[in-house]
Amino acid sequence: MCGIVGYVGSRNVTNVLVQGLKCLEYRGYDSAGLAIRNNKELKIIKSVGKIKNLEEKVKGIDGDYNSGIGHTRWATHGEVNELNCHPHSNTNVTLVHNGIIENFRELRKELELIGYSFKTDTDSEIIAALIDSYKGSKYDALIYAQIKLKGSYALAIMFEDEKDVLYAMRKDSPLIVGIGNNENFLASDISVILPYTKKYIDIEEGEVVKVTKDNVIVYNETGKVIKDVRVANWTVEDAQKNGYEHFMLKEMNEQIDLCTKLYNKFIENDNYSKDIPDISQYDKIDIVACGSAYYAGCVGKYLIEKYVCDGSMQVNVEVASEYRYKHHFYTSSSLLIVISQSGETADTLACLRMANKLNVDTLAIVNIPSSSIAKEAKMVMPMLAGPEIAVATTKGYFTQVLELSLIIQKLCYIKGIIDESSKNNLISEFFSLKDKITSLYDLDYSIVANKVYDKEHIYFIGRCMDYVLGMEASLKLKEISYIHSDIYPAGELKHGPIALIENETPVFCILTEKEIFDKSLSNAIEAKSRGATLYLITTDEFEFDQDYFEYVITLPKVNDFYQAVVNIIPFQFIAYETAKKKGCDIDKPKNLAKSVTVE
Ligand code: F6R
Repeated sequence: MCGIVGYVGSRNVTNVLVQGLKCLEYRGYDSAGLAIRNNKELKIIKSVGKIKNLEEKVKGIDGDYNSGIGHTRWATHGEVNELNCHPHSNTNVTLVHNGIIENFRELRKELELIGYSFKTDTDSEIIAALIDSYKGSKYDALIYAQIKLKGSYALAIMFEDEKDVLYAMRKDSPLIVGIGNNENFLASDISVILPYTKKYIDIEEGEVVKVTKDNVIVYNETGKVIKDVRVANWTVEDAQKNGYEHFMLKEMNEQIDLCTKLYNKFIENDNYSKDIPDISQYDKIDIVACGSAYYAGCVGKYLIEKYVCDGSMQVNVEVASEYRYKHHFYTSSSLLIVISQSGETADTLACLRMANKLNVDTLAIVNIPSSSIAKEAKMVMPMLAGPEIAVATTKGYFTQVLELSLIIQKLCYIKGIIDESSKNNLISEFFSLKDKITSLYDLDYSIVANKVYDKEHIYFIGRCMDYVLGMEASLKLKEISYIHSDIYPAGELKHGPIALIENETPVFCILTEKEIFDKSLSNAIEAKSRGATLYLITTDEFEFDQDYFEYVITLPKVNDFYQAVVNIIPFQFIAYETAKKKGCDIDKPKNLAKSVTVE
């Protein structure tokens, strides 16, 4: 929910911190601040609003600072103002925090009783006092804090009495150490360090890291820990806009090459590779995720139910924040699939941990390799989507759906539901998917955007796959254009929602499935007869009376296993163009953050 950066070395510290915070702005953009240290002082600068406000404020600070920490905030405790903005200091300790401390009120009372006072409403200021209150070595003080703190945290810490040394630790919130040449970094994600180094180490729960410019020492309760240095396979360009007006637009365009990347990774000698997990030994599958990742899971459930219809597999899909509070009756052949771009979504992680604890097999479809979900799942299918910076996911959802499709194709092949020749056709269709979707990038979606951008409500209707796909389409539109939108199963419209249709209410009709085209078309016409303006998204295999529709987008017909990834592209563009027309902040919609590490 917040972004952290730290630096020790001889570059201009303020610049490194501000540039790092810009990379992390997707994680929170209420306010930002930094603490920098030279031989004389530890200086704290804070600013409300976007990072560019902080950048203005720190202009002209010269380069004699050798270390510092920075933070971009997405408020959870305390309103958005400079006081609550990080870094927070108490006595000898200055720190930045990402996460939520659940027992901060009790800790605050305990600390007040021994003489500490507090200036802010945040849970984070308590941590600084807690660390300061321990009378012993810095290492022991940090371990003491780990024992006392309940909740989640990634912390970058500076002590007033020790210059050019940063400390770090984490629990359920991401933090890595970037390893440079005579300089080292702390960061919430890899994109921050890419301009300087590709080498990094992961920090595990229970570890305390001491970072100087030429050394990184990691301890845990057993003593010094030898860590593996990992090498990021992302480039600086992956994490930059590269000439695109918005990250969202860049990421939608990257979907074309992702088809090839995923094909090369998951197809080997014209067959499904071993990197596609084999789930054929399970008979009960639970798919759990949040937001768009949950909607991807809904496509997965739909495909399993459509193809594995011999009763050998039961599939359930649920949002993680609900799933974790319910009873589950696992068997030895249950599998929990979690889906997460960030790999840090708190509720999804909690479900994974719950299943791991019960010894249920777990599979994660996850993008960030250093994330908690990637590290804790028993099996992992990496998404290979590269950094997704725009808060609203596009290539993340696209990859999740495509990978689920591959898992289910392989499952059907192993179970004999798909024969050799169908498998070969599916694989060759996967090879040409890139060309199929490329044609969609040339359409002018601003025509639709211009017609709907000033509407208050927009509805989507569809059946079966079209319905589950429409959930993501509707979310994409509402989260970046702030137009209220909802999706209904086409057949449900007349059971209530049709009361919402007024003159010229836009209704997007998603009609790409042959068996139900006519039925859904009738539902669309019912809406039109109540005044709706209809927009049709369909495939090139149907004939119908165009006059019913204000605008028609025709998609290439592909195998059902790929139709969802084709169908979502126009909706991503319609949401993008509509938000652009309205002048919305496309990459950073209001009230949202990319990585939801709170429950
Ligand atoms: C919507 C969106 C969110 C995420 C959700 C899960 O555009 O991005 O709904 O899909 O917060 O995030 P991850 O995939 O990181 O677990």
